[in-house]
Amino acid sequence: MQKLAIQGGVPLRGEVRISGAKNAALPIMCASLLTADALQLSNVPELHDVATMRKLLEQMGVKACVRGSEMSLYGGQANKPEAPYDMVKTMRAAILVLGPLVARFGEARVSLPGGCAIGSRPVDLHIKGLQAMGAEIHIEHGYIHAQAKRLKGARIFFDIVSVTGTENLMMAAALADGVTLLENAAREPEVVDLARCLREMGAKISGDGTDTITITGVEELNGAVHSIMPDRIESGTFLVAAAATGGSITLTDTRADILETVLEKLTEAGAQIRAEGDRIHLEMHGRPKSVNVRTAPYPAFPTDMQAQFMVLNAMAEGSAMVVETIFENRFMHVQELRRLGALIDVEGNTCMVRGVDHLEGAAVMATDLRASACLVIAGLVAQGETVIDRIYHLDRGYEHIEAKLSQLGANIRRLK
Ligand code: EPZ
Repeated sequence: MQKLAIQGGVPLRGEVRISGAKNAALPIMCASLLTADALQLSNVPELHDVATMRKLLEQMGVKACVRGSEMSLYGGQANKPEAPYDMVKTMRAAILVLGPLVARFGEARVSLPGGCAIGSRPVDLHIKGLQAMGAEIHIEHGYIHAQAKRLKGARIFFDIVSVTGTENLMMAAALADGVTLLENAAREPEVVDLARCLREMGAKISGDGTDTITITGVEELNGAVHSIMPDRIESGTFLVAAAATGGSITLTDTRADILETVLEKLTEAGAQIRAEGDRIHLEMHGRPKSVNVRTAPYPAFPTDMQAQFMVLNAMAEGSAMVVETIFENRFMHVQELRRLGALIDVEGNTCMVRGVDHLEGAAVMATDLRASACLVIAGLVAQGETVIDRIYHLDRGYEHIEAKLSQLGANIRRLK
């Protein structure tokens, strides 16, 4: 089990390049199943989850060719519409092959993802949507068995906003017979990036980025060339780290228009932020001020930034409420932050965080991807050394994080 050791107290300074978005790359890689041609992707982040998705597609017969952040996927020879449990259990996003497999091959056998640290995370909305499009679905021995001669367009209402639910059904509808309406759809930028890529492949999609998406099915889709959008959560994570350490950093190859609520909260906390084109500059003088945070579907404050703001509030001036409305168990980082001296009370889905003037380094354990990012930020600000265990969680979603942080002056090293 690898660990990260961090000596706190160094303000982050300098420039860092933001990688492609994990949560755009994963669904877009699955879109390769929808065509027999080549899907040529660039700005693909080199992450553990991306490698897992590539291996999952390869065992279905997709040919993959990777050179750094370039990836070509050839769905032509795909012939095994199955996603086995041992691959799905390590990465829930594997559920994103379900829609494309049924749409292109008329059948799929995909393991139920099972729960994960942050919640039960059911996939009932994915299944209900495919059934509305005419798929015969039954679940046995932990697998989703789906069959459909040809999916038919349908009107589908999401009673809960679901990012991958919207993405799965958008991909399925792209090859269905007729028009599909997705209502109360997710508006996340990663949904829009997938829609862009599908349009480049010949799909007829409109309304992406709003809560109603219309897809008119076509007979077949072609290959395309697509560059993955920047990762807004990696961007937000580095900005919070700079604010917490009282530093001054510039992000490059990113976008400010998809981070508005996060930038607003950082400004409220006292940071000075300047966005120009694909760069965002943040300077922080003195101690941050506490800011209230309430997560909700885009364009509201993202749940994937909740843990990062928890640690900012833990060392800020004042007290703040952090409310998590998306997942039922996304406060596991609280226990670990308390080991570093944080004063946090938890009541259901609400935390009251009272800022302390300093955190103290200690041994802590990562529990999920964004919680591990929060602990890294805690280590950067804590007095003394913090050692974070189980950092495989971190490697799933942050490309070369210790190299990027070292480049900004952090005293951080990976312990084998
Ligand atoms: C996506 O997960 C992201 N993952 C998550 O990022 C992110 O936290 C989440 O959206 C919310 O923004 C990817 O895009 C690969 P949901 P997803 O379906 O799609 C409930 C990260 O850190 N729900 O939008 O799985 C669900 O339980 C990860 O990068 C159902 O009840 O999330 C949750 O309470 C973590 N039934 C809520 O909806 C369903 O069929 C939102 O979940 C589907 C979801």
